[in-house]
Amino acid sequence: MQIRAGLIGAGNISETHARALRAIPGAEVVAVCGANAEKVGRLCREHGGAAYHDFQAFLAHRPMEMVIIGSPSGRHAEQGIAAARQGLHVLTEKPIDTSVERADALISACEQAGVKLGVIFQDRFKPDLRRLKQLIAEGLIGKPILVDARVKWYRPAEYYSQSRWRGTRGLDGGGALINQGVHTVDLLLWLLGDVVKVQARTAAMLHQIETEDTALALLEFSSGALGQLQATTAAYPGYPRRVEITGSKGTIILEQDRIVAINLRTPYQGPISSEVADQNPSTSSPVVSDIRGHQSAIEDFILAIEKDMTPACDGREGRKSLALVEAIYKASGQR
Ligand SMILES: NC(=O)c1ccc[n+]([C@@H]2O[C@H](COP(=O)([O-])OP(=O)(O)OC[C@H]3O[C@@H](n4cnc5c(N)ncnc54)[C@H](O)[C@@H]3O)[C@@H](O)[C@H]2O)c1
Repeated sequence: MQIRAGLIGAGNISETHARALRAIPGAEVVAVCGANAEKVGRLCREHGGAAYHDFQAFLAHRPMEMVIIGSPSGRHAEQGIAAARQGLHVLTEKPIDTSVERADALISACEQAGVKLGVIFQDRFKPDLRRLKQLIAEGLIGKPILVDARVKWYRPAEYYSQSRWRGTRGLDGGGALINQGVHTVDLLLWLLGDVVKVQARTAAMLHQIETEDTALALLEFSSGALGQLQATTAAYPGYPRRVEITGSKGTIILEQDRIVAINLRTPYQGPISSEVADQNPSTSSPVVSDIRGHQSAIEDFILAIEKDMTPACDGREGRKSLALVEAIYKASGQR
């Protein structure tokens, strides 16, 4: 299918969007809108598309069927609503926004306009994570008992100082939890279902930011399983994400994006990991150079447009992690 996309934002992740779009047959970048003229110009030169600084003029660009939002998180809903009102399908970066109230307004605006809404949580497309979901759903580990999720990442001071919206209450909505930890919040909800009770602490331990660089949460799932989540950008030099899920029949361990152990009472005969790990340096950098996850998310969204289906992670799915992040912030006294 021929699909023409406009990019909102021209920073770090919009580069990933441009590269991923170019890897998809029939897809192209036709317009780019951002605050920094130099970055917009560079993206257009390298990947094609007309440069815009005026958002309304960008939205009027035609032919253009969809936008991909890679702007600061607190602008996602407002910009998505404006795009939907112009009849454009909306695929936004995680988190869907920084407030559930605005996320709901975006979901309604897309429904009213009859356009698709998707949220990029690329982990949902990674082979080992899909397999992990299937194994848990098939009952391989039995009834889930305990989950231990550790996102002990590191970001240098420049990560915050070079993009001044990061770590702010207004545009990031928080710090390490809503920006970095949200991938794992989404993963836990996707794998294990809803969370019904939360206790939490957050703090700025290392970075000079107004929100948290370290968050701890105790979670109770509707299944009765208990969990703990650690998310930080202050753990030098940064360690691969580790998720350990124990059930009544044994334990599965995920490191980075690979299943590294399946330890069951009845020895497991199948393969452990199906894939080479994601090549992104996410433990210490925001750059998504291995575009495979993003490419799959965009391909899924284009297919949803073409076949009039629901994207794998639509607005309602994308809203879940934000709602839990809000609950964690509330429990910690941060909001
Ligand atoms: N899926 C992933 O793995 C992943 C990775 C990195 C970032 N992200 C998400 O992508 C979004 C952007 O992150 P980034 O790392 O590309 O940030 P960035 O700072 O590199 O780029 C942000 C872009 O928004 C523009 N901008 C800055 N301030 C603005 C403002 N006040 N209003 C409007 N536009 C403004 C900038 O000019 C820039 O083009 C965030 O929502 C982040 O959570 C997702």
